[in-house]
Amino acid sequence: MAETYDVAVIGAGPGGYVAAIRCAQLGLRTVCIDAWQRPDGQTSLGGTCLNVGCIPSKALLESSEQFAHLQHGLTAHGIRVQGVAIDVATMQARKNKIVEKSTSGIAFLFRKNKIEHKPGYSRFVSVGATCQLDVEHDGGHETITARSVIIASGSMPASLPMFPLDGERVVDNVGALEFREVPKHLGIVGAGVIGLELGSVWRRLGAEVTLLEPHERFLGMADEQVASEAYKLLTRDTGLVIRLGAKPSGMKTTASGVIINYSDAQGSQRLECDRLLVAAGRVPNTHDLNLDVVKISCDARGFIEVDDRCRTTVPNVYAIGDCVRGPMLAHKASEEGMAVAERIAGQMPEVNYAAIPSVIYTAPEIAWVGQTEQALKAAGTVYRKGLFWFMASGRAQALGDSRGFVKVLADEKTDRLLGVHLIGPQVSELLAEAVVALEFAAAAEDIARISHAHPTLSEALREATLAALGRPLHQ
Ligand code: FAD
Ligand code: NAI
Repeated sequence: MAETYDVAVIGAGPGGYVAAIRCAQLGLRTVCIDAWQRPDGQTSLGGTCLNVGCIPSKALLESSEQFAHLQHGLTAHGIRVQGVAIDVATMQARKNKIVEKSTSGIAFLFRKNKIEHKPGYSRFVSVGATCQLDVEHDGGHETITARSVIIASGSMPASLPMFPLDGERVVDNVGALEFREVPKHLGIVGAGVIGLELGSVWRRLGAEVTLLEPHERFLGMADEQVASEAYKLLTRDTGLVIRLGAKPSGMKTTASGVIINYSDAQGSQRLECDRLLVAAGRVPNTHDLNLDVVKISCDARGFIEVDDRCRTTVPNVYAIGDCVRGPMLAHKASEEGMAVAERIAGQMPEVNYAAIPSVIYTAPEIAWVGQTEQALKAAGTVYRKGLFWFMASGRAQALGDSRGFVKVLADEKTDRLLGVHLIGPQVSELLAEAVVALEFAAAAEDIARISHAHPTLSEALREATLAALGRPLHQ
């Protein structure tokens, strides 16, 4: 008789693979079913994040940043460089190697933790004291039985019917990570995180890049002051053209490219480009899991309904990551994965959703944790604000990038930190201290009294807390 697993995990992205590892560490017999296939038909663990998301995008961001730095960032140092050129094939091969290393790293971790990996597409057959899942692979079917199921099926790009993808001229993130040459003019539908990051890659390598964003406000989820500084720097320094209030209405392909029609405050407009990236958000992968058959509820947008412990409407079925509410971020998925594994093992972990960090890997980087100033205002919270500009940081000056600032928001009465918002050099790394501070319910005064090595960029966070307390030292 087929074995009954303690836990079956559907999906091996950063939600699913982390959940599976934690389950195995806790002594639970675990199987992880994952449907990911590379274009060559090979299976590959790691989901969106490792295959076509976080990792490849950061690899290309790094290559393109090095290229831009060599071209424009060294003159002030007295370093003269000639003949700088980009070999896109080599850059792509490097990126592919990084992806290969990362995904095979997950396969190694599965073997190490004795997690059974089943390639294939999974659907619910039944739920109860044990749950049955069908796994379809290469035309064959297998039934798996498990006491608990963790759904970590992730998300996919939202498709806009007016912009049908052809994988060549009109692409999503997958295609925009694979361009074999630098586009002349890359149009992007949606000035969100993917549009800005992948737009930055190809802009730095020489493409003209135009982003069309229907909203009037840039980066609606970020702190308004940070968003407005980001708009200034990304348009002025990176050279991205960002058209706000631009509502696309359709497109037509021509021999040489794509023409996009859109309207803005000035009326009807058109954008001609040779490649188009559609990056207008992502939708959960939940439509083909047979969830209705087993009465697992989804909301109107297809996200599986869960409580704050990731429990679905069926007691021993949990759902985590991009297929449930909350930010679509790899570390949020992993956090939920660990917590659910521990709950299944009888522990009582909590995920602190108020301290999930966000980073946008543009140059300069944008990062935040906690509440925005506009959210505090809307909630009527009385707060203090401290701002420190990197212009006044010796380390930022030495680096040659002193753009941006750190902003802290602290409760007026208790001094507790409520939000930290950063834009500037390497702020993705500086953010970690702010996350620790929020997790430990630190006051601005706590950070202000901690010695920070000099000269480091990290001094900027301390200076911002000093500013919130009304006693800045360096500005
Ligand atoms: P996924 O990573 O989407 O994994 C789900 C897995 O489940 C996939 O392998 C899928 O094939 C499989 N699956 C789905 N349905 C089934 C089924 N029925 N049976 C079997 N298997 C199934 N986030 C960050 O935090 N930082 C970043 O820098 C970042 N950069 C990104 C860049 C890009 C271009 C993109 C697209 C996303 C980026 N993200 C980033 C978001 C991040 O990738 C996701 O939040 C994260 O991958 C979600 O993890 P997940 O485990 O929920 O789902
Ligand atoms: P997004 O939500 O960040 O941005 C989508 C943008 O498209 C929005 O500005 C939206 O207003 C716009 N839009 C929506 N409908 C549109 C339409 N019909 N026409 C034109 N524009 C339209 O989504 P994006 O960039 O697709 O990324 C998906 C998710 O992936 C993000 O929400 C993020 O969570 C994750 N991600 C995270 C990264 C990171 O952490 N650094 C990097 C890349 C992606």
